[in-house]
Amino acid sequence: MWKAISILTVLWAGAVSAQQAADAVAPEAAGAGVFEDLGPGYAGAMAAKVQGKPVMAQNWMVAAANPHAVKAGADALAAGGTAADALVAVQAMLGLVEPQSSGLGGGAFLVWYDAATGEVTTLDGRETAPLAATPRRFQDAEGKPLSFFDAVVGGRSVGVPGTPALMEAVHARWGKLPFADLTAPAIAMAEEGFTVSPRLAGLIAEDTERLGRFEATADYFMPGGTPLAAGDLRKNPAYAETLRLLNGGAAKFYTGDNAEAIVDAVNGAMDGAGMLSATDLSIYRVKERPAVCAPYRGHEVCGMGPPSSGAVAVGQILGLLEGYDLSAGPMDAGVRRLMGDAARLAFADRGRYLADSDYVPVPVTGLLDPDYLARRATLLAGDSALTEVAPGEPEFDHALLWADDVSLELPSTSHVSIVDAAGNVASLTTTIENGFGSRIMVNGFLLNNELTDFSFSSHADGVPIANRVEPGKRPRSSMSPTIVMKDGAPVLAVGSPGGSRIIGYVTEAIIGVIDWGLDVQQAASIPHAVNRFGAYDLEEGTPAADLMDALSGMGYEVGTRALTSGLHLIAIGDGLQGGADPRREGIAYGE
Ligand code: GLY
Repeated sequence: MWKAISILTVLWAGAVSAQQAADAVAPEAAGAGVFEDLGPGYAGAMAAKVQGKPVMAQNWMVAAANPHAVKAGADALAAGGTAADALVAVQAMLGLVEPQSSGLGGGAFLVWYDAATGEVTTLDGRETAPLAATPRRFQDAEGKPLSFFDAVVGGRSVGVPGTPALMEAVHARWGKLPFADLTAPAIAMAEEGFTVSPRLAGLIAEDTERLGRFEATADYFMPGGTPLAAGDLRKNPAYAETLRLLNGGAAKFYTGDNAEAIVDAVNGAMDGAGMLSATDLSIYRVKERPAVCAPYRGHEVCGMGPPSSGAVAVGQILGLLEGYDLSAGPMDAGVRRLMGDAARLAFADRGRYLADSDYVPVPVTGLLDPDYLARRATLLAGDSALTEVAPGEPEFDHALLWADDVSLELPSTSHVSIVDAAGNVASLTTTIENGFGSRIMVNGFLLNNELTDFSFSSHADGVPIANRVEPGKRPRSSMSPTIVMKDGAPVLAVGSPGGSRIIGYVTEAIIGVIDWGLDVQQAASIPHAVNRFGAYDLEEGTPAADLMDALSGMGYEVGTRALTSGLHLIAIGDGLQGGADPRREGIAYGE
């Protein structure tokens, strides 16, 4: 049976290596009683994770949050498919077996390395605000920001989904196998039923009140009023039908009966009246955007630019740390001070400048300029926590006067890393935002609450906030799907769920591989210490919690809590090495 992070048999005293620290995060019993029928290769992959070892392969690999999804992707690759084919198969399956985190009702970002051209590009499948949305969408009649869950649950938070269009775009651009072959495993499992995992059952049990507010959602997750339990068989014929619809092209999802059903469900739900229109759905488009790459110790760290803050923030943190020695490892308080305050500086810039660059000018080049970061990095030279952290003044070619945003992201989401036999690399982070999204279910899938990633406040002291709600705009994200390059070739695919802590998890894993010499399974298992806005969060039940006194002594407010990342990494070298976060049920598998 799964349990939250438990400890640790490692004796934690004094200097402990990064490897030992990583070993100390005990894995969930990946797949106990649920995934045993997948076959011997998968049993081996699960065993490797439990033993804290990376999975090795020569030709191709998939790492994702659920073994059924990994198998769907692996089968596509084994049939000669590309990473794009595998991605469609993985996403179709995740929407069934991990519906609380991502699916057809959500959005996603893809970072793609094309082996034929050697180029890295990105596809933006982020949700959009309805054309009827206004900057005061998440404020009460007096202009005060709503409480988070008042904003999340119901129609107000639902953006136009991007994932179905992204699946089509990825496949059209780089896929080889017929689209219908890729959704077939998920369709079959939706019709035959899948075994509810302990993680899904646990999350349903924690959320029964909110899930119970909507009839279709309650019927699905709590049939007859009883929450689904681990081991239950759940069929989802409506989801199978929606996937069949998608086989005929994404336009069938975004127009006609399916679009009408989404609009009716949103506008008929509490707080949703009149917000979403058929036009909003019919005009949705995936956008190709240039990858945002930042140098770090001889590597290029490439990820998703605006509307995600991911690549800029990860790149800034690494750039701020470039001149500092981190070799003492993750359990050294001095190293954590540097990492924590670098993150605070990056988050200050993020709160001021990052938003959908189709709506506001975002000084991406200025924020990642090595001279700018070197100047900011001098702030890290002391021995104690920065007492004040403010946004910097990057170079920009447009007047910028923004107030700091007020927004909150809670962890949900899912990350998929894939390498195919031709050497293409896909790093996809996919989400419906909060666990179970808006809680509104239609045609077998949950609708997102992505619009709560906008700033709830629209302005401060009369100055507008860059990430305010606007019609058609994409909410700022923290999702950080990343491909690390060295000498023009990909060496690592990585990403994680975790709300705005994603940035910390991904940065820590990259530092784990580059600075601390960890393999990818160890990098996925580093006990987390995350700082965004000043308070230091240490992962409870792990050696990271022992940093409490030292970090408090440096002036930080420090607390312990669960920090449930979902890192999925593939290292690319002579062969492939995969790692899956021990905090979740996913695996890496390859051949
Ligand atoms: N909703 C999570 C993110 O986009 O960062």
